[in-house]
Amino acid sequence: MRDLGWSTARRLIPRTLPAWVLIVLIAVLLVSQTSLFVIMSRDRVASNETVDFYRINERAFWLAKLMTPLSPEERKRISGELTDPTVVLTLSSSPGVALIAASSDPLAELEDILSAQLSRFGIEDVRVRLEEPQLPDATARRAQNPDQTSDVQENLSEIASDFLKSPRYRVSLRFQDDQWLNIVTPVTPTGPLLSPDSLPTYLAVSACVVMIAFWAVWRIAAPYQLLEAAVRRLGDDLNSPPLPEKGGRDFRSAARALNQTQARLQEHFEERELLAAALAHDLRTPLTRMRLRLALLRNSSLKKALAEGIADIEETVESVIGLAKLGANTESMELIDLWSMADAIADEYEEATMEPLKGETPRLICLAPPVALRRSIRNVVENAIKYGHSARLALRHDERHVILAVIDEGPGIGDAEIDRVFKPFIRLEQSRNRETGGSGLGLTIARNLIRKLGGEISLRNNPGGGLEARLILPRPAT
Ligand SMILES: Nc1ncnc2c1ncn2[C@@H]1O[C@H](COP(=O)(O)OP(=O)(O)OP(=O)(O)O)[C@@H](O)[C@H]1O
Ligand SMILES: [Mg+2]
Repeated sequence: MRDLGWSTARRLIPRTLPAWVLIVLIAVLLVSQTSLFVIMSRDRVASNETVDFYRINERAFWLAKLMTPLSPEERKRISGELTDPTVVLTLSSSPGVALIAASSDPLAELEDILSAQLSRFGIEDVRVRLEEPQLPDATARRAQNPDQTSDVQENLSEIASDFLKSPRYRVSLRFQDDQWLNIVTPVTPTGPLLSPDSLPTYLAVSACVVMIAFWAVWRIAAPYQLLEAAVRRLGDDLNSPPLPEKGGRDFRSAARALNQTQARLQEHFEERELLAAALAHDLRTPLTRMRLRLALLRNSSLKKALAEGIADIEETVESVIGLAKLGANTESMELIDLWSMADAIADEYEEATMEPLKGETPRLICLAPPVALRRSIRNVVENAIKYGHSARLALRHDERHVILAVIDEGPGIGDAEIDRVFKPFIRLEQSRNRETGGSGLGLTIARNLIRKLGGEISLRNNPGGGLEARLILPRPAT
């Protein structure tokens, strides 16, 4: 179970550079936005506090100025009239705030400022305290304003109820006649940073930023994808056209390096081809001379053996030339009806049969150099006959591929060897005899060609015995 979870998690981890760049970009955006929100909301709390302190200061000043000359009864009457849902004024003989604030409390500074300011009215004892809200129940609140009708009144009452839900400052100040005025005023509520009104704008801007990031990453990654495709094309076909050296500086220098590598590899292959051609030429002349001289000899078993030896050397020379030409794409591509080609090859050998196609089948076309492809198929068929007694050819297809299976009835190949036989000059022990002698290059050349065409060649032992070689070739887009 844990393994399953881990493999699912691994599948979700992105593997491409653009995906990583996008994830990092979006993560950075999220972190910076979140920290910005935190900083902004802290700043808003701090600035609200300053405004609240300023308002308390102002109210206390005006109330002290208004009430100082009045008698205690008149103050009580006036305080009743001045009280509203956001400021509650009461008068008492004992303070509403029992103690003055400790010096470490930020309110102590406010107390000091208020005392200094109100001392001109003979008020020296000022106490400020922050209290948690005491929520009045909804019915009681409605009862306070029974005949609210207009929108403005409703909005005001909503603001008032918001105020009632927030903590409040309680300020007590003592007049000279020992009467205390208690002012209760709420802390201004901070409200959410993203209101329902601004949320759509915020989301639209964020979506734009993410879209621009997508576009930018796509622009940055596009040349690298082009490079990747070019490298892949180079692996398939050394003579593919060079990359255009334009675009950003990084891309231009990478394209230049790639083009230089391609040119050097082409030179290298040309040299190899020249060398093989020279070798073949130099060998062919003495071989022809030997054949002529051989013809003058009397018929004998020695003559036959020598002729076979010369034929072997000639075959090897041809194979070596074939191997040397692997990199160079000299033959042009043609559309080939694989059924007709395979059928014609099967006709060439007595031991080969072609399985008839079942029912209505579309033409099984592939794009390939005909001579090289015929040579590869022939080699596989000859292998089946030489090492597996017979060859049965069958053509299958799916939407994107044509598959030619060549099935024999021989001993097959040990699992350990099945990949090794594709390497050059590899021939398995039991087939090292004169009758089945070959150079061990047939499968190397075939695999090289078929991979170049975007296909694959593979061998597998059939459970009932015998070997099945499969040539898978892509069907050209119609
Ligand atoms: N159908 C098969 N059954 C058993 N062994 C096979 C079969 N096909 C190929 N092999 C083994 O794989 C080896 C490599 O095959 P490959 O076609 O590359 O070379 P070759 O046939 O020996 O020589 P060449 O094809 O160059 O004349 C063969 O020597 C043979 O041992
Ligand atoms: Mg062969």
